[in-house]
Amino acid sequence: MFTSSLIPLVLVALPMALGVPIRKSGFQSQVIYQSPNSLFLENIAVRADSNLLLTSVASPTLFTLDPTTINGTLDAVHTFPNATSITGITEFLPEVFAVAVSELDTTTRRTKPNTTVIWGVDFSTAEPQTLGRLPGNASANGLATIPGHPDVILAADSNLGVVWQVDTRSGATRQVIKDASMLPNAPPPALGINGLHVAQVGNSQFLYFTNSAQGTFSRVAIGVEMGVVKTAAEIQTLLNLQPDGQAPDDFVMDPQGRAWVAVHPGALDLLSVPRNGNGSWSQQTIAGNTQGSDPGLLQATSAAFGRGSQKNALFVTTGAGQVVKVNMGV
Ligand SMILES: *[C@@H]1O[C@H](CO)[C@@H](O)[C@H](O)[C@H]1NC(C)=O
Ligand SMILES: *[C@@H]1O[C@H](CO)[C@@H](O)[C@H](O)[C@H]1NC(C)=O
Ligand SMILES: *[C@@H]1O[C@H](CO)[C@@H](O)[C@H](O)[C@H]1NC(C)=O
Ligand SMILES: *[C@@H]1O[C@H](CO)[C@@H](O)[C@H](O)[C@H]1NC(C)=O
Ligand SMILES: *[C@@H]1O[C@H](CO)[C@@H](O)[C@H](O)[C@H]1NC(C)=O
Repeated sequence: MFTSSLIPLVLVALPMALGVPIRKSGFQSQVIYQSPNSLFLENIAVRADSNLLLTSVASPTLFTLDPTTINGTLDAVHTFPNATSITGITEFLPEVFAVAVSELDTTTRRTKPNTTVIWGVDFSTAEPQTLGRLPGNASANGLATIPGHPDVILAADSNLGVVWQVDTRSGATRQVIKDASMLPNAPPPALGINGLHVAQVGNSQFLYFTNSAQGTFSRVAIGVEMGVVKTAAEIQTLLNLQPDGQAPDDFVMDPQGRAWVAVHPGALDLLSVPRNGNGSWSQQTIAGNTQGSDPGLLQATSAAFGRGSQKNALFVTTGAGQVVKVNMGV
């Protein structure tokens, strides 16, 4: 299914650049925003000027928050029509963000058929544009870009266990991959593939993804051939999160190839692999805890690195309406 020119056969090596040392004592974190009505915050992206963009599954409005103030205000960027929810958000060109907008059935907690629209929000133009619509029962949770391919948006379908491709120029959508490692292992509202991100490893690009219900972190080699996204046959499960019952949500990859993962019920975990690229991935709790009993990090949903004046911080959103700033030091 995949040409060797795109994906070399050797997939195991994960070369690591010199990394930021990780203090054993843990990282300092602070709740910089608490929604007064505990609005469920779902996903986060960061603009170059350091402002945060926040989505909620309980609102059709894309919000912005100034991370330099404590308990600032959620200001509306845009409210999307015929929608109740926004899930993933990703920047695919400088200052141009794709967001996954849909109508949620509040009884079944599933996305209503034919309602998932990927919109483009370009901060240099007034009105958001439709980039593409997902077909039938498809839904979108996390969104991702492929470095070097701004014409492609990837969407994680947590219900069908699928990764969708949306062509931002033609609006065409197609299924990239459907796999057991992406399916929920329990009936709705259990979620399968949730966060997804593409990272460069040596000469290859890999799609990393979490599966919330299965508690796994996995990857598959990925590439684009003539505008069509293709993945390798082999999907590697890198880690089963511990203890059982931890549900990884969205995450961010750092330049050293490590994943900073928002984990339910209430932790930020760092997943990393030893420098030589062999050996197994390990899991370390950076903030919150595995019981979800830290009031400073409840129902972690996504994570993103700060930019501009906030570049030494990592921001975590939570289902309890929090934005938590984690100080990365340096
Ligand atoms: C932020 O607001 C919440 C209520 O919305 C409040 O409980 C909390 O103490 C405030 N934090 C600070 C640092 O003022
Ligand atoms: C919203 O839904 C209405 C009724 O189905 C439809 O007429 C309208 O075109 C929709 N608007 C958008 C922007 O999709
Ligand atoms: C979704 O759209 C497809 C194609 O237009 C249509 O066949 C199907 O009936 C629609 N489903 C619902 C539930 O409206
Ligand atoms: C869409 O989902 C509904 C409800 O779960 C199901 O009855 C229907 O068969 C599904 N349609 C397709 C095309 O999978
Ligand atoms: C990784 O493991 C493989 C197979 O066990 C071995 O051939 C290779 O030399 C190892 N690489 C490093 C960098 O240790």
